[in-house]
Amino acid sequence: MQCGQSAVAGLISNGAMIRRLVVGGLIGDGQSVAGLSVICHVTFPSVLSSPCLSCLRSSSSDDYRQWCHTCTIITGRHPTVMHRASSNATHPKKTILVTGASSGIGKQTALALAAQGHTIIMHGRNTRKTQEVRDWIVERTGNRDVHAHVADLSLMNEVARFAADINAAYDHLDVLVNNAGGQFGSTREVTAEGHEKTFAINTLAPFLLTNLLLPKLQRSPSARIVTVASESYRQAGQPILDDIELEGHYSMARAYGFSKLYVWWLMRQLDARLKAAGVRNVTVNTVEPGSAATALQRESIRKSPWMLPLIILWLPFIRTARHGARTSVLMASSPTVEGVSGEFWGNMRRKHINGKWISADGERRIWDYCERVCASYLTDVTQ
Ligand SMILES: NC(=O)c1ccc[n+]([C@@H]2O[C@H](COP(=O)([O-])OP(=O)(O)OC[C@H]3O[C@@H](n4cnc5c(N)ncnc54)[C@H](OP(=O)(O)O)[C@@H]3O)[C@@H](O)[C@H]2O)c1
Repeated sequence: MQCGQSAVAGLISNGAMIRRLVVGGLIGDGQSVAGLSVICHVTFPSVLSSPCLSCLRSSSSDDYRQWCHTCTIITGRHPTVMHRASSNATHPKKTILVTGASSGIGKQTALALAAQGHTIIMHGRNTRKTQEVRDWIVERTGNRDVHAHVADLSLMNEVARFAADINAAYDHLDVLVNNAGGQFGSTREVTAEGHEKTFAINTLAPFLLTNLLLPKLQRSPSARIVTVASESYRQAGQPILDDIELEGHYSMARAYGFSKLYVWWLMRQLDARLKAAGVRNVTVNTVEPGSAATALQRESIRKSPWMLPLIILWLPFIRTARHGARTSVLMASSPTVEGVSGEFWGNMRRKHINGKWISADGERRIWDYCERVCASYLTDVTQ
């Protein structure tokens, strides 16, 4: 069946399916993206045209997630379109590491970059899941040069071990996409190493990994560091720089928002330091994917059910993971942004940043803090 108005009739006649999807969407039973999309279609019928019922029935939820998005539906594309590896002059082959590539935006980023024909080093934290996603990418793109690695990035010990593995296994690295990220609940959690979890995964890990891989990146004729942040920093309020790990000021919104603000600041610092050191062959940019329906969003609803009404209001603006990956892919591989560095991009464009979020003092303090915390791992790295 093709996307079309007949799908609406099918959907409406199938009350059981709607119920299953809506309930699935609310309780996060694995159908949540489909469920949320259906609520969206039912709630905003005048804005959205019909969902592709065929995709929903016959494909995995990933396919649905990829294609049953407002724009996709409006443009009428069908999910049977496959990616095919196409290394060519537009995308000279690069070696690209994507962290958090086992799910959501990172998975779509790795898929799109594999489809361009690059060597993909995909990172996940679960061996089986990461291998399965690797096989899925190979199958869909025909690119066999995709390699799975596993590490828990909430532990700096593991980040250092992972960086050592990458340094040993690959003779060069052209692009690092720091995509892995997490959001936790309303109670502050700490890692076995004693760090607030959100800060550890979203801020410390990209700081340490980037620094440990920097010598390898510097060997590339033209290297790029792309870090996935979030506009959520705007909702977190004023940074609390004398309590960076929020021992006394924890809230979910602060932890997530600040972790993303800080990682962006760290990347600005890195860019400034590289420029000051005369390094010309490594660019450093930060991106934000917009709101994308991923496991991260499902988890935040599950952990904070009070957010549900807000999420429902926000539904028309929630994009697919594939859409969320577009700016990461652009900044990782497009020749059009060659040489661009020190910027914040979103929705395929350079973002205008309100000066109130920039703080040279804040950047230095966060950098110094992370450097202090990671000092034992950074001894061999020239900074
Ligand atoms: N979705 C949004 O609306 C949105 C908006 C703004 C920014 N972002 C950012 O986009 C990035 C990707 O998120 P997403 O939405 O695609 O979420 P996601 O589907 O949950 O993907 C997160 C990825 O990070 C991995 N990960 C999580 N914790 C980890 C850990 N401790 N060690 C190693 N890997 C870990 C996950 O592994 P598993 O597969 O094992 O879970 C997964 O591969 C994140 O940095 C997020 O903050 C997302």
